[in-house]
Amino acid sequence: MTEKLGSSLIVLGAGGVGSSVLEQIIAGSHNFMRSLGGIVVVDSGHLVLIPYDSNLGAVNEEHLKLVLEAKRKVVDGKRGSLGSLRDRLDIREIGELWDYINKEDLAINTLPTEFSNSESGKKTQDALTARIREPSPFLLANHIPISVLYNILAMQEGAHVVDASKSAFGKREYYQAINMVASSNCVDYDPNGAIMGPTSAFAVLRWLTEHSIGIKSVRAILNGATNYILGRAKEISVEGALREAQIRKIAESDPTADIEGYDPAQKLRVIGNSLDLDVHPKVSGIDDKHRGIDGVTNEYLQKIRDNGKLKLICTLDTTTREAIVRPEIVSPDDPLYDVDGTQNAIVLTLDQKLRLIEPGNLDIIRKKDTTKPEPDILKMLLSIYRHTTTISANGTSTVRVTYPSLSEGHRVYNHYKIQFVYDPRRNQLIIKGPGAGAAETAAALLDAAYATLERRGALVVPARKLITL
Ligand SMILES: NC(=O)c1ccc[n+]([C@@H]2O[C@H](COP(=O)([O-])OP(=O)(O)OC[C@H]3O[C@@H](n4cnc5c(N)ncnc54)[C@H](OP(=O)(O)O)[C@@H]3O)[C@@H](O)[C@H]2O)c1
Repeated sequence: MTEKLGSSLIVLGAGGVGSSVLEQIIAGSHNFMRSLGGIVVVDSGHLVLIPYDSNLGAVNEEHLKLVLEAKRKVVDGKRGSLGSLRDRLDIREIGELWDYINKEDLAINTLPTEFSNSESGKKTQDALTARIREPSPFLLANHIPISVLYNILAMQEGAHVVDASKSAFGKREYYQAINMVASSNCVDYDPNGAIMGPTSAFAVLRWLTEHSIGIKSVRAILNGATNYILGRAKEISVEGALREAQIRKIAESDPTADIEGYDPAQKLRVIGNSLDLDVHPKVSGIDDKHRGIDGVTNEYLQKIRDNGKLKLICTLDTTTREAIVRPEIVSPDDPLYDVDGTQNAIVLTLDQKLRLIEPGNLDIIRKKDTTKPEPDILKMLLSIYRHTTTISANGTSTVRVTYPSLSEGHRVYNHYKIQFVYDPRRNQLIIKGPGAGAAETAAALLDAAYATLERRGALVVPARKLITL
């Protein structure tokens, strides 16, 4: 018999992001192998239970490696299934999941993003909806995306949720329903991975809201693939840049959602709904016939070359609620001009001034007398970016985030950089950094998970027998 000591981590989904989460746990992220009471991994058909093993003093690493190997194996173009491990590990049917989620567990949701009602998943939706205790009329009358239902049900069992899926922002009512369930069950819901996860953009938006600092407008680059393609097209060609992006796995083999602007429009909707604005972004193109960067040719880029850089820009006016995604020529004095490659950026124009920060090393500032009132931006940096941060000058800071890499074979970078700038003249907060990437997103999700479990004192809960073998 194995006794569970701390909270369990429930990894909902084991595709690109979910597998990276497992990989980084195995590689030692936050010492989770030793501080968790167990790990439950879920795919579309099954779940696997990997409890804390008191003989090992940790979750069994070999079992986690078997799961990772199975989910990374592609047979006939299809990802391997947890069911294939039935003879070697404790595999259960997906419907049993709710028996293994308990109070103070933490679910990392890496299920697919769905905004509209999908008929194909209707049976699963109905089965999950039937499990909701006291469902609101809205939840009963609508087909709710599966990943939203998973969030609600996990929180109903008392688990906290860190979300990578954007489904919660498909409709304002989804996000409201999730927040209501979180508050009535006294658990945390953190959609950290839904928008520029590695850069913690959501945490910045939330921090501003909690401190009653209004956002007048948002301008952003929210799609790394199109930003990369537009930048490289000037050096090679539009076609060559797209091919290169696909080879480097920056763009999907079917790049329509990026090229035609649907992906950044979804992300702009996430920002709008997170600010409690019901936003439906329009996507336009370089002419009436095209959308996004579709229709941008080498000749077009040549023609506009002297006027600035062409970028796919997302704009939201929070007063009129007008939201648009369109290609724009940006000039060198625009804060989005220098956003290159796969980088994303968000420029928030605020309704009040923030105080500036003195240059210095954040680690040292953190250790100083905490009774001294801190300038506003510094408070934000301290609460959101828990990593070493060097504040170079006048509200500019660079946050270096590190996470472990398991093997050279995988595309796991061991650090990335976030740039954080406050421009007092325009009263703008500018955040630049990676917007996606399975490994970077996984690192951000694990960081958010750790912060929640640590805050709740849930990493070491003695003698709770939740999973037994
Ligand atoms: N990739 C990125 O860089 C990135 C960045 C930020 C946010 N996101 C978001 O993160 C989420 C995951 O992305 P991804 O690239 O990892 O997707 P993915 O590779 O398609 O993985 C999705 C996982 O969810 C599982 N799943 C699907 N339907 C399920 C169901 N009904 N019940 C249980 N499990 C189910 C799949 O199971 P099977 O393995 O059995 O198919 C798979 O393991 C998406 O919402 C995406 O928008 C991704």
